[in-house]
Amino acid sequence: MEVICSPVEMTAWSNKKIAQGKIVSLVPTMGYFHEGHLRLMRYAKTKSDFVVVSLFVNPIQFGPGEDLSRYPVDLDRDRMLADKEMVDALFIPDAKDMYPEGFNTQIQVSGVTETLCGRSRPGHFIGVTTVVAKLFNIVKPNMAVFGRKDFQQLAVIRKMVQDLDWDVSIIGHPIVREEDGLAMSSRNSYLTSSERKTAICLFSSIQYARNKFAQNKHVAPSSLLDEIKSFIQGFNGVNIEYIQLVNQETLENVNALDDNTLLVLAVKIGKTRLIDNGLLYDGV
Ligand code: PAF
Repeated sequence: MEVICSPVEMTAWSNKKIAQGKIVSLVPTMGYFHEGHLRLMRYAKTKSDFVVVSLFVNPIQFGPGEDLSRYPVDLDRDRMLADKEMVDALFIPDAKDMYPEGFNTQIQVSGVTETLCGRSRPGHFIGVTTVVAKLFNIVKPNMAVFGRKDFQQLAVIRKMVQDLDWDVSIIGHPIVREEDGLAMSSRNSYLTSSERKTAICLFSSIQYARNKFAQNKHVAPSSLLDEIKSFIQGFNGVNIEYIQLVNQETLENVNALDDNTLLVLAVKIGKTRLIDNGLLYDGV
């Protein structure tokens, strides 16, 4: 595996592969790899000739008071894990190369960014789309793989690629969960052992909603939401940021439920913000 830090060298590396007619995939990450990241890498490996993983804790997608300064980092471990997954290039740029002095451009997708995480984290998606646009220009991938846990992020990136006529296939990989159902996330490492037990409340709420919906498919979205909120509030120390039932294409609240309605949740457990989502019918 090659470890590349300079954007210019990264582009030169990709240009060579592209000139040979090879398919290059990109897995954008902020590092501190867990099984969820590794699955994205494995998936990319099956679909392309060369896999590039970017590892960059993107400062501009964190708001004031968020967890940028404590975001977990373990470069040696990440390097070892990516190498084991047969990743071809690990791209670890420096913030000063990504955002040199005088950098003054932002990519902003409107509409789909104005709800859910976009509402509670102002500016977050501008940071995400700006860095992903830069990564696409530097790495020039044919395809890019993102986890579906960040469902809104995936929708925002799809919209950016569509609106800007980018020739990159965007793949949404299913959520990878711990044995008890907690969606894998680098931020799970912040949880104390008692918070970790409480964190099951997100997946339990999805299962609870699925059961309620299976019992009565005509239940009004507002009453199902009330039930889910009381269910989750039964767990100690959970602060709801949002819980919504949305259309998975538009991310708008639905007036009536169907199998494809998506339950999306963001909660705080102690100081840790966790998100999750799931369709009301999981197809099983
Ligand atoms: O999902 C993430 O880890 C980040 O938001 C991404 C896509 C790597 C951009 O920094």
